[in-house]
Amino acid sequence: MAETMKGLKRSHRCTEVTGAMVGETVTVMGWVAKSRNKGGIIFVDLRDRSGILQLIFEEANVGAEGYAKAEKLRAEFVVAVTGKVAKRGGAVNENLATGDIEIIAEDIRILSEAEVPPFPIESDSKTKEDLRLKYRFLDLRRPDIQSNIMLRSKVTTEVRAFLANEGFLEIETPILCKSTPEGARDYLVPSRVHPGNFYALPQSPQLFKQLLMCSGYDRYFQIAKCFRDEDLRADRQPEFTQIDMELSFVDIDDVIDVNERLIKHMFKEAIGIDVATPIRRMTWKEAMERFGSDKPDLRFGLELTDISDIVTASEFGVFAGAIAEGGTVRGINAKGLGELPRKKIDALTEFVKGYGAKGLAYIAIAGDGTEKCSFAKFMKDEELAAIRERMQAEPGDLLLFISDAKKKFVLETLGALRCHVADQMGIIDKNEFNFVWITEFPLLEWSEDENRFVAMHHPFTMPMEEDLPLIDTDPGAVRAKAYDIVLNGVELGGGSVRIHQNDIQEKMFDVIGLTKESAEDKFGFLLTAFKYGVPPHAGLAFGLDRLLMLMTGADSIRDVIAFPKIKDASDLMSDAPNIVDPTQLKELGIEIVKTEE
Ligand code: AMO
Ligand code: AMP
Repeated sequence: MAETMKGLKRSHRCTEVTGAMVGETVTVMGWVAKSRNKGGIIFVDLRDRSGILQLIFEEANVGAEGYAKAEKLRAEFVVAVTGKVAKRGGAVNENLATGDIEIIAEDIRILSEAEVPPFPIESDSKTKEDLRLKYRFLDLRRPDIQSNIMLRSKVTTEVRAFLANEGFLEIETPILCKSTPEGARDYLVPSRVHPGNFYALPQSPQLFKQLLMCSGYDRYFQIAKCFRDEDLRADRQPEFTQIDMELSFVDIDDVIDVNERLIKHMFKEAIGIDVATPIRRMTWKEAMERFGSDKPDLRFGLELTDISDIVTASEFGVFAGAIAEGGTVRGINAKGLGELPRKKIDALTEFVKGYGAKGLAYIAIAGDGTEKCSFAKFMKDEELAAIRERMQAEPGDLLLFISDAKKKFVLETLGALRCHVADQMGIIDKNEFNFVWITEFPLLEWSEDENRFVAMHHPFTMPMEEDLPLIDTDPGAVRAKAYDIVLNGVELGGGSVRIHQNDIQEKMFDVIGLTKESAEDKFGFLLTAFKYGVPPHAGLAFGLDRLLMLMTGADSIRDVIAFPKIKDASDLMSDAPNIVDPTQLKELGIEIVKTEE
């Protein structure tokens, strides 16, 4: 039968016991990681969240009853052991913090027995993720996941300390809200009291934090849960956490300044990395043109090059045609891949076709200078020579080109290819933390689906003052006072200066096709608040999960979230979402209608 804690106190966590404590009596508690019975002496590795400590059981020290208990120990039993710290009798284990000591057990309680776990509790698990997530409570015992979760706690503690010191107030905002216009689908919660009415879970605290500025709390922050019903990927969860903030009486540089210092603080305190500031800034336009992405990974070069002017009059219909239709031809130079086998070039072609490209043109230059070119037969020698020169081609290089009538498509596809090729070339330094601010985003984005402009960040984002006149004549060209912080090709956070003038806000709603009535209906409370004295304000939100993913080098944000969801937004452990009791539905006035499909 499981024993209790009665009269017992833990004195140390496993790795808090050190070589300086030899001879002292300690009481440690945790899980049996490993138990080896050598006949007359039993070695047990005890594990808690701090690490591993070796325990030694011999009848002479622990008594007959204690020894009998030790003989029963199996993996994941929970025990309390009191004993003397001793220098390790056997070989010192360099891999353990406590590798030079052991505890000579004098007393043991078995606090809980355990069934054989469905997979071994160890770092670098080979177990399939689905099984790990089904038994997440066991998976969370694994040292590498534990260190991620503990680092997460460290980061939020440091964020709170830093921001409090900078005069930010931590204020909670509601979870049961009206929908905020962040662009993703809302999670809805039915109201029992108001049948047929729904709350939306917040996609972010955006409107509330702006209201807090109206109310005079001039610096706000929150470690905020956000909910978005969107397609999930390795860096996206349906519920995730933001380090969210808003500041009054500021402009872009003020927000960037305090956040650079926050980044510096977080990286230093959490993982001992010195982030050099000021962090480089790049306009959205430059990022797109040079790297084919608004979240460029700057750990490597492989920049995009425009060869449109060289091929515009060529006989190669694919290129010339794309340009004639207002498009472009761009390329990258994959240095050193000039002798890539044809099969692998075909695989690159398949990669870009996955993005919708019609093909991938190439010039492969072997080390001895011999060339294979997929479009040479259409080209004049001087055109090819000009391309080589523009691309700074040398023997051993592989030049890859994409053309299309849509420039944005060419840039983005080549941007994706750039990262894919860099990965293959092995030129990405996994230990580098390369930050960049992306600025001057377009205010608006044309939506083909909706046949109208939509706000690129959100409709409360301030246009750049110098572009204001364009808002009537050429809305697509207006740049916004919006900024993203990008780390190693991942969008870590984003924000903007907000509109605080009613006339500009009305204009903004106008260009995105929102009538006065529907604007009033959606966020009338914010517009009303603006009528009673609103300070200029701006803010930003980091994705905490993404931040931790990058700090730990995890492949997915699931590895830094205690209880994550899988791709279809379900929780394999608790089986959420589930079917609810019909009486619950009845109370809510909800009926489930089966749809075809
Ligand atoms: P935005 O929508 O850019 O801005 O979100 C801010 C940051 O949150 C993270 N993020 C996510 N992380 C995990 N899973 C998701 N599904 C997910 N979606 C977003 C990203 C992103 O950069 N209210 C504005 C901020 C502001 O203007 O102040 C906002 O939410 O790291
Ligand atoms: P083809 O004459 O169709 O064999 O095309 C010659 C080369 O152009 C092949 O390598 C194709 O993959 C490539 N190609 C076709 N469409 C495109 C495109 N839109 N952009 C770049 N290359 C293309």
